[in-house]
Amino acid sequence: MTTGFRTLDDVDVKGKRVLLRVDLNVPMDNGRVSDTTRLQRIAKTIIELSEAGARVIILAHFGRPRGPDPKDSLKPVATALGYVVMRQVQFAPDCVGEAAEKAVAALKDGEILCLENTRFHAGEEKNDPAFVARLAKLGDIWVNDAFSAAHRAHASTEGLGHVLPAYAGRTMEAELSALGKALDHPARPVIAIVGGAKVSTKIDLLENLVSKVDALVIGGGMANTFLHAQGVKIGKSLCEKDLAATALRIFEKAEAANCAIILPVDAVVAFHFEANAPSYAYGLDGIPADGMILDVGPQSIERIHAAIDDARTLVWNGPVGAFEMTPFDRGTTQAAKYAAARTKAGKLVSVAGGGDTVAALNHAGVAKDFTYVSTAGGAFLEWMEGKPLPGVEVLKAR
Ligand code: 3PG
Ligand code: MG
Repeated sequence: MTTGFRTLDDVDVKGKRVLLRVDLNVPMDNGRVSDTTRLQRIAKTIIELSEAGARVIILAHFGRPRGPDPKDSLKPVATALGYVVMRQVQFAPDCVGEAAEKAVAALKDGEILCLENTRFHAGEEKNDPAFVARLAKLGDIWVNDAFSAAHRAHASTEGLGHVLPAYAGRTMEAELSALGKALDHPARPVIAIVGGAKVSTKIDLLENLVSKVDALVIGGGMANTFLHAQGVKIGKSLCEKDLAATALRIFEKAEAANCAIILPVDAVVAFHFEANAPSYAYGLDGIPADGMILDVGPQSIERIHAAIDDARTLVWNGPVGAFEMTPFDRGTTQAAKYAAARTKAGKLVSVAGGGDTVAALNHAGVAKDFTYVSTAGGAFLEWMEGKPLPGVEVLKAR
């Protein structure tokens, strides 16, 4: 298990007021939770704490409100959480002050209370010590189970760790253990697949990866920038031409670090950016001037499969084509299915994360077959960039 962290194994929570930071930032549709994945992930910690006799006080943010805003209330999420954990989840209409204090004082051992959106107070995002103190007075210990919010140094994600005894929750533990196996101490060779539209959002990530992985597959719109930097004519494809020098620097770094960069060798090209637009596969020397690359081609898919065959560990972020539109989902889906099959066969440890990535794996129907799929978006990217995450750092035993 992850060393250097206190976990729920290190504390007797019976009768204690446990401030439990989770990520309740879930997708909503018409006032109802439309995807309960994040709720299911944290259920284990909540149930364990409740059964051990803790007074469970849930802290979380929702959306990015500027001050109190009914549309960002956690109340409907607390209701949905109750169904997931199959226990009553009480709700208090504020996370500090009288409403919160009364609700906490009334809690009995084993009961669960969700407090209103922490971001209704400006002190949350400012990590204001006065606000931290108002939260801290509600609890005896702080448990952080929100890896996906750990890139934020906010009062409830980081500040509390300085003033209360701090512990990693079970979801945080599982996440750190899975991510550790992917990049910190992986079974080698380790390969990364990175896709998505833009290089500009992933420069730090690519630079960190080339120093850590044995091979890096680049796909999606961002591959076009690399191809363009190598002199390939890419027609009207999405491309950040001003980043050609950055792309060349990443090639150099990769070479110095002995990391193979695997770019597409062919492409699926269409002439309109829309689902089911007529499309054709071309070699890189024949991309039509008025065409747009929307997916990796069949030979590239074979190369990705071969790269996966060579690897014992895979870390994946970002689709390799415009996967939201058929048939341009093919490359992503085939690579995902291939990685899933290798994982099921016991040949590969596969870890994936980032918003689009999870959607793409679900679309391919294989998310459950990966070794670990992180529900984190921004935090997963910052972890892939090699940056310390404040909400994790604060957990390291002092
Ligand atoms: C997320 O949904 O990725 C996390 O909850 C963080 O949310 P934020 O990007 O609004 O800080
Ligand atoms: Mg987000």
